[in-house]
Amino acid sequence: MIAEKTLNQTLHIAKFAKKDEFYTQLSDIESELKHYERHFKNKVVFCNCDDPRNSNFFNYFACNFEKLELKKLITTCYKSQEADLFIQGKAEKAVLLEYYGNINGSKIPDAEEIGIEPLKGDGDFRGKESIDLLNQSDIVVTNPPFSLFREYVEQLVKYEKKFLIIGNINAITYKEIFKLIKENKAWLGINMGRGISGFIVPDYYELYGTETRIDNFGNRIISPNNCLWLTNLDTFKRHEDITLNKTYYGNETEYPKFDNYDAINVNKTQDIPLDYDGVMGVPITFLHKYNPDQFELIKFRKGNDDKDLSINGKCPYFRILIKNKRL
Ligand SMILES: C[S@@+](CC[C@H](N)C(=O)[O-])C[C@H]1O[C@@H](n2cnc3c(N)ncnc32)[C@H](O)[C@@H]1O
Repeated sequence: MIAEKTLNQTLHIAKFAKKDEFYTQLSDIESELKHYERHFKNKVVFCNCDDPRNSNFFNYFACNFEKLELKKLITTCYKSQEADLFIQGKAEKAVLLEYYGNINGSKIPDAEEIGIEPLKGDGDFRGKESIDLLNQSDIVVTNPPFSLFREYVEQLVKYEKKFLIIGNINAITYKEIFKLIKENKAWLGINMGRGISGFIVPDYYELYGTETRIDNFGNRIISPNNCLWLTNLDTFKRHEDITLNKTYYGNETEYPKFDNYDAINVNKTQDIPLDYDGVMGVPITFLHKYNPDQFELIKFRKGNDDKDLSINGKCPYFRILIKNKRL
């Protein structure tokens, strides 16, 4: 019995550890970062969950250092103290790389050539060494460990850093993250779901489902289609109004009221009525199109009784309560 419990616990931990071993493709980084170029001039960028020897975040910023007019690029990676079991020797040492640009003219900068130094500690983003580097940085850009996402974002907010990071769509439903979005301290980036084409997984990772492939370089790619970019860098998208075509008046039956909140339910963002000035419950994917000048975020998920929003006793998927500011 004890042995079984230990095995189950181990498998559970291993599953979580594996979830953290998704490596971001250069193409996905490029298709997001192209929308933020103006933010990087004269800035220190920190990629604090990235082994410069295999991270495409490092590759992206090193290759575009001059184009973005960066001041400095800092990259550090993590070496778990319990590395043998779960990390499978991917990063042997926690290392630091600091790059000031222009190492070799037109050639693609190479991490070993730039110079890698060992860190004293294990490179944990919460450790003193990493926080000292965070203090020297302006913008943090990476795909952090999914299992530590809340803590990761909390630290960025605490140190008042600009950030652009990849997370799971579910992260929106964490109350700490939703609070940031509601208070306009963070928002969704440009690409989300299928807009992020997939992640490179280690060789030992079992490919499952249909959304998997091997790319031209032999990398194993998995496309979970459930990720987003979270940022506090301004984007064009959050200043664009959602086009509204439908009307509430004349179509009231399509928009039933919740049992436990004075609001109507709207099943799709595109169905938000243009003439309803009360509160509306919309799907969480609304946040991908959200313009804070057009709508106000009121509340997430719960009604006045602090239970999930319901209609005739049934709860639709998570809803965000919003109000049209322009009416
Ligand atoms: C989802 S992977 C992404 C790796 C890389 N940022 C990329 O996008 O290709 C998350 C990385 O965070 C690292 N990591 C795990 N725990 C960490 C911690 N406490 N501090 C810093 N990095 C950590 C893991 O080693 C893993 O490489």
